[in-house]
Amino acid sequence: MEVRPLTGSIGAEIFDVDLSELSDDTFHSIERVFYDFGVIVVRDQRLTHEAHLAFAARFGALERHPIVEGLDGFPEIIKIHKAAGDAATFGVGWHSDNSYTERPSLGSVLFAEQIPPVGGDTLFANQYLAYEQLSPGMRRMLDGMKAVHSGKYAYRASTTKEKYEGKTTIAYRDSEAVDREVVHPVVRTHPETRRRALYLNPMFTICFEDMSEDESRPLLEYLFRHSVREDFQCRVRWEVGSVTMWDNRCVQHTALNDCQGFERVHYRVTVEGEKPFL
Ligand code: SIN
Repeated sequence: MEVRPLTGSIGAEIFDVDLSELSDDTFHSIERVFYDFGVIVVRDQRLTHEAHLAFAARFGALERHPIVEGLDGFPEIIKIHKAAGDAATFGVGWHSDNSYTERPSLGSVLFAEQIPPVGGDTLFANQYLAYEQLSPGMRRMLDGMKAVHSGKYAYRASTTKEKYEGKTTIAYRDSEAVDREVVHPVVRTHPETRRRALYLNPMFTICFEDMSEDESRPLLEYLFRHSVREDFQCRVRWEVGSVTMWDNRCVQHTALNDCQGFERVHYRVTVEGEKPFL
C-alpha cells in the first residue's frame, strides 16, 4: 500500500488497498498510519454497508448515534445527506464527535457516495500540536482543569427544530443525551500513542468545571481559535469512493458548508471510545 502525507501536521492518503478484503497484516499497517497521522483517507473503495461496518469494527465496538437516526437495517450507520436545496450540512463547525457523552467516540469512518462538483471538503486539526504549542505555563494550568461538554446548544438551536419533526434530510430523535452535561479533562492522554492532546471544541464544550459560562468564555475562545490554527490542519478533498477515518481523541474536524445547490451523500460509522483521562 502507498501512503502519502496530506500536510506536515496531520493526515495521510492511502492507496492500493481494498478495505473489503483486509489481511491482518494490512489492517495493522493501516492502524499504524491512523495512529501516526490522526486522519487517514483511503481512496478508491467500493464499500457495501456490511463492509463499512466490518472495517470500523476492527477498531472496536460500534456505536449508535445518540440523536441521528441510523439506516433501516443498519442502525450504526448514519447517512450524512445534504440535498441540493438544503442550507447547511451536518457537522459544520469544529468539533470532536460525541464529546458530550461519557465515552466519546474513538474514531469515525466516513464513506463518500456522492460528492458535489465543487466544495464540500472536510477540515481536520491536530490536537497534539494544539497542546504542544501552548506555553509551558498554559499547559501546566490546563493539565489541572476539566471542562463541561453538552449537546444542548448544538442540538437545541432553533434551526434544529425541523430535524426533530422529520421535515429535513437528516432526522433527529429526541434524547435526554442532548441536555446532559458531562465533564472531561481539558487535556487527555491518548491510550495508544501516550501523547497528550487538547480536548475542547466549540460545538460541545460549554464551560470549565466549577466556573460559569461567562467566566469561561475568554479562555475558551482563545483555545478554540488556537486549537484549529491553519498550521495544525489538513483538508480532505473528497472523491466518490473515498473513506476517511479520524481519531476523535486527538483531532477536531469540520465539514465545509460551501456546496450550496449541490447534493452530497456520505455514510458514517463511529467506534466506541473510552472515558477520557489525563
Ligand atoms: C461529521 O462531522 O461527521 C461530518 C463531516 C463531513 O460530513 O464532512
